[in-house]
Formats: sequence, C-alpha cells, structure tokens
Amino acid sequence: MQSLPFPFPVVQWKDGQVVLIDQTLLPGKLEYRRCADIETLCLAIRELAVRGAPAIGVAAAYGLALSWNLNRGAGRPLTDILSAFQDDRVSLAATRPTAVNLFWALDRLGRLAENLVAAADLDADGIGVALLAEAHAVLEQDIAMSRALGLAGQELLPDSATVLTHCNAGGLATGGYGTALGVIFAAREAGKSISVYADETRPLLQGARLTAWELADQGIDVTVICDSAAATVLAQGRIDAVITGADRIVANGDAANKIGTYPLAVLAHRHGVPFYVAAPVSTFDPDTASGKGIVIEERDPQEVQEFHGSRSTPAGVKAFNPAFDVTPGELITAIITDRGVFKPPYTSSLRALGPDMELK
Ligand code: MRU
Repeated sequence: MQSLPFPFPVVQWKDGQVVLIDQTLLPGKLEYRRCADIETLCLAIRELAVRGAPAIGVAAAYGLALSWNLNRGAGRPLTDILSAFQDDRVSLAATRPTAVNLFWALDRLGRLAENLVAAADLDADGIGVALLAEAHAVLEQDIAMSRALGLAGQELLPDSATVLTHCNAGGLATGGYGTALGVIFAAREAGKSISVYADETRPLLQGARLTAWELADQGIDVTVICDSAAATVLAQGRIDAVITGADRIVANGDAANKIGTYPLAVLAHRHGVPFYVAAPVSTFDPDTASGKGIVIEERDPQEVQEFHGSRSTPAGVKAFNPAFDVTPGELITAIITDRGVFKPPYTSSLRALGPDMELK
C-alpha cells in the first residue's frame, strides 16, 4: 500500500469483512463500521457511512468478494454460487443510482466471476481468492488514479492559490487520496501555497464535516462557508480556481456532482474563474450521451426538513432533496483525469481516454 496523506483506511478488508470508516459520525467520532453481510454493506452505502463515487466503487468491489465468500459452501456447485452472487450484485447496484463507479466496480468483479466460472479452471475457493485480489486491485488502482490526476491537476494552479471546493472529494471519498482534494494535496507536495474555501454542502454537510476535517488534519488552511456565500467569495476576488469531484461524467463532458455544484460553475463563469472537475476514468460513462441521461438520486426529504436532528421546517411542509445536479460541459474549463487534462469540446477530446472507457 502506498503512503497516503490521509492517515486512515477508508475502506478495508479485515477478518473476512468489509470495514468502513463511518462517515456519518465525523468529525465528532472516528469509528469503523463492520459489514459482515451484503445487507449491512448496502445499508452503509445508502446511509452514506461510505460515500463519494470512488469509495463506493471500492466498497462494492469488496462487497462482491464478500458475497462469493459467504455463498460458497462445501460442495455447492459454482453455478449456484454465481446465481446467489448475482443477486447480491443486484442489491448493491440498487443502493445509489448516480455514481457510476459503483456500476463500474460491480461490472468488473461480476464479469471476472462469470469468466472464471465459465472457464472452470478454479474451484470455489480459488475464485474467491481471485475476486478478493481483484477488489484489492480496485483499491490500489483508485489510489494510483487519484495520485496521477492530482499531479496532472496541480499544474493548473499558480504557486499561491485559493481554491473553492464543494462537498467532499478527498481521501474519505476515494481509496484514500482524493480527486479535487488530490489536486490540492499534490499542489502542496509540489511546494505551492494553497488555501481552501469549503462549501458546507447542505443538507448532509460533507464540506463542513469531512473536507474541513481532512484539510485541517493535513495542515492546509481551510475556511468553511455557507453554500450561499460562494457568490460573495467569488465576487470579492478571493478565489483563483473552483475544483470539484464528480459522480458521473458522460460523453459530452456534462458532469453530475453533489447538489450545488452547477451553481458554482455558473458563478465561476460569471466571475471569470476557472472551474475544474477532477475524476478518475472509473467515473466516466461514455455510453450516456449527455447529462439528460443521468439518473439523479432523490433522497429522503427529512434530510432537508431537519438540521442536526431537529426539525427546521414547519410540520407538514414538503421538501425536495435531489442529491446531485448536472454541470453542463460547456461550463467546465477542464476535466482533470489520471490520463491527463481534457478541454472542451469534450465530445471529441474525451475519446482520447482510450480502452478503459469501453468497460461500461
Ligand atoms: O452523496 P455523496 O456524499 O456520496 O456525494 C459525493 C460527491 O458528490 C463527490 O463530490 C463525488 O462523489 C466525487 S468524490 C471523489
């Protein structure tokens, strides 16, 4: 395992279980949630105990390794194990609809299991070992992709820069380094002086709770603002670049990310500040032509009707709670990936991403 600025394993395989940092408890408590079965893991993903597109992908990969492990019984035919495994794959796929990394990881391990069963070279134990090795590879590759995109992205920042970010696209949202925050960590490692404004990110406060926690832990100057203060900090000329992560980037460069990202892109455009999206290739969905084809998760209205567990809206008043929005590619100055930095027009430039794009 490579050394990381982020000091704790976000998702790990331990004692035959998937063990996750419970991000719902941060920053107050650093505790792990142990998932010994698929139902518990699905709940952890739905509740955002593990969250952020790449981290969800890693958790799902370990989930399928866990599924095979749990389903293989003495003398049970491989086709029976595969059938139970496919049911678990469907359950994991149903947890959250927007982050494409979830489906990317499920397809990757799902196809491996299908191929190994069809080849009939390995017994159930051997296939279990191969699936676990693949899940470890998903984790290791995710960290490597974050590192690579961080290096590519940091070159876009001046020696001294103030960055505005939204939600959490750091170590907690990935295998352990980060995408938007990976660019910031890499810039700092390159000797640049970086300060960050972090949108608090209502309703679940990933910016205030998680991004601020990670950056402060790394000794990076961070200031939390209300989401609605973003216009003010941009208008006051405090921001050199806006950098966010993404949950799904489609063929024309439209990018889904945490609700509140699209207004930042509009504001950045208005104020002549570059707006960058940082994501690994596992976040690309070349089969979807435009953002109109992205399914946006709608979460429980209660998340909006309450603040810190107390009701903040009058009883009986409705709330609408889309978890993500779509930023049109034309508002994105550049997309930072582990395969380099891409500029508009994305319909042609993103084709250079190559064979991995065909995975979906
Ligand atoms: O609902 P969440 O917390 O899973 O949303 C996370 C985001 O929107 C992140 O910005 C995105 O997944 C990129 S993480 C590297």
